[in-house]
Amino acid sequence: MNPAKIKVPELAYVRLRSPDLGKAEEFLTDFGLIKVERTANKLFMRGTDAGPPLHITELGTPGVIGFGYRARDASDLAALAGSAAIETVDEPGGGKRIRLTDPLGFAVDVIADTTPLPALPVKRQELNLGAHGIHRPGELMRVQQAVQVKRIGHAVVHATDLERVVTWYRETLGLLGTDEVWAGAPDHVIASFNRLDRGDEYVDHHVLFVVQQKRNGLNHISFEVQDFDDVMKGHQLLKQAGKYTHRWGVGRHYLGSQIFDYWEDPWGRIHEHWTDSDLLNASHPPGSYPVEIGFGSQWGDDAPEAFVNHSSR
Ligand SMILES: [Fe+2]
Repeated sequence: MNPAKIKVPELAYVRLRSPDLGKAEEFLTDFGLIKVERTANKLFMRGTDAGPPLHITELGTPGVIGFGYRARDASDLAALAGSAAIETVDEPGGGKRIRLTDPLGFAVDVIADTTPLPALPVKRQELNLGAHGIHRPGELMRVQQAVQVKRIGHAVVHATDLERVVTWYRETLGLLGTDEVWAGAPDHVIASFNRLDRGDEYVDHHVLFVVQQKRNGLNHISFEVQDFDDVMKGHQLLKQAGKYTHRWGVGRHYLGSQIFDYWEDPWGRIHEHWTDSDLLNASHPPGSYPVEIGFGSQWGDDAPEAFVNHSSR
């Protein structure tokens, strides 16, 4: 593998295509995102953390366009550009962008010099968890009647050529291997968890999980919510809405350890709520696990076949 051209510090957004922006906005609002702007042909949604919009929908036939990653600065765009043009972005957050295409055929925008939207206030209450002492003396817990997404977390993709996809992301964006999952024998790798390289800083267990599968596609896109109450409140509210398909959860993953819950948008693209990921820095040694553990949960039901084989294009 060649040395990484740059090391991106963040996944910035997912970009989908949907035939009805009103319906897209309704689902994403119910899912816990907040509208930044809706034009005749684009919808931009955000989370409560500071940053540019993290979910972009373009009007058109249902599809997955791709992803945006943030570069440290514009000089990283130049290092990566090659024959690609550095463009000025005409979308909320602005900044500069180059457009690449990954081996799956998804667009990969690399952006820099964006103007972040300020963080939004979030009302949370402390938890009285025995081992951690008393944090809410005399105060009654009253859970918010809404789920609020903090930020975008990761993407999971299916690949007919796992190694090619993993190599591209590591060489192009500087992702690090966290854990491999194997079947039968350790040299038969069927899936690869990859994280951001921010040196000593701790990052999520994975920003990109690549699974060897029969066709290329997006399995799901994932968003961090405020806490465990938000995962459960989100589950309840999406269920009560009576019009969305639940795909898997609630449970706690083995690799990554997130508490998760998965829902389909109106066009079948799976969106995940999660909280409480393992956080690792660049010195964490890579792991290797058999599939029974690698795809397993610490609690909750096993993944249904409909989830395991799901991919969107
Ligand atoms: Fe996930």
